[in-house]
Amino acid sequence: MEWSNTLTQLLKIKYPIVQAPMLGVTTPAMVAAISNAGGLGSLPVGGLSPEITRDLIRQTKALTDKPFAVNLFVYNIPNVNQNAIKPMQAFLEKLAADHQVTLPTTSPETFQFYSYTDQVPVLLEEKVPVVSFTFGVLSDPAIKAFHDKGVVLIGTATCLLEALILSGKGIDVITAQGIEAGGHRGTFVDNDTLPAIGLLSLLSLITAEVKQPVLAAGGMMEGKSIKAALTMGAAGVQLGSAFIACTESMAIPAYKAAIQQASETDIILTRAFSGRWARGLRNKLISAVEGSGIPIPVYPVQAGLVSPLRAAGVSHNNKEFVPLWAGQAASKAKTASAAEIFGELIAEAGLGYE
Ligand SMILES: Cc1cc2nc3c(=O)[nH]c(=O)nc-3n(C[C@H](O)[C@H](O)[C@H](O)COP(=O)(O)O)c2cc1C
Repeated sequence: MEWSNTLTQLLKIKYPIVQAPMLGVTTPAMVAAISNAGGLGSLPVGGLSPEITRDLIRQTKALTDKPFAVNLFVYNIPNVNQNAIKPMQAFLEKLAADHQVTLPTTSPETFQFYSYTDQVPVLLEEKVPVVSFTFGVLSDPAIKAFHDKGVVLIGTATCLLEALILSGKGIDVITAQGIEAGGHRGTFVDNDTLPAIGLLSLLSLITAEVKQPVLAAGGMMEGKSIKAALTMGAAGVQLGSAFIACTESMAIPAYKAAIQQASETDIILTRAFSGRWARGLRNKLISAVEGSGIPIPVYPVQAGLVSPLRAAGVSHNNKEFVPLWAGQAASKAKTASAAEIFGELIAEAGLGYE
């Protein structure tokens, strides 16, 4: 059996393996390394300004002439109710002071949230070949604008209903994000209960109902789990945590070390860092915010409130105030170059195809 399939042909890549976009971790060098090795690198630009978006795309293009994806966050910018967020803001300031963390002075009035709609023209102008997105569905005009230019669209689903919505909108590839996945849940259907479906069940449900190629995401760190996903009907896989500790990652050293030492029970779902559910290692910020009983503002307001503390954590290599996003098997992350990790995955997963 050949690696080539509908997904590799659509994306014009050699292997059906996608490096997941990881905002705060992925660099242009990581994206280019994976694309140059025959996979699909993904550049995360969710919520960034159009200027930074263009700059990151150009940095990536300077390192590879192979296709790569650019990843957007699709969400509505909420109105910020200044009074409602004051208790959380005061709590985070005190948390910083209690830990001798000096914060840059910001006020909620100055938070700048960028909508993906500001980034779409940049992606079109830069002739990005593949656009992936999470947290929702692109608007109809955005879908049409991308499709008119031949851009391949990849949307994220965490349950069958979301996959059917994406499929109905003509999205070309559906990523099935299992509950094992590190980082934010892509969930966008309003539900009292967060869909928490394991990858194998999700693949079983989605591949039976959706005609588009399905990308499997969540908890895969080695060739045999990739083979399992392909056996379940996925046309390809998307791995994030496998690349967090790679040389090209911008994760702080304390984060890389923490995930490699993590036990399964350290890796939890939380809204503490951003207001949206996300999976990562428990740290002081999560325990403090969850323990405070103060209502957590919605995404991305909470992310804005936390950002000064997070910036201080990054600059001091302090993992207690930085989101340590990680999938359920992240302790298997390897310290090596992205190309070496990718090469090993291909070799391990390729064994069954000889
Ligand atoms: C550190 C980190 C950051 C992430 N950031 C993004 C992102 O910016 N956009 C996105 O669509 N998914 C993001 N994700 C989720 C991934 O796309 C993917 O679902 C997940 O990495 C798969 O699970 P795994 O980490 O166990 O491989 C992130 C995941 C991690 C671990």
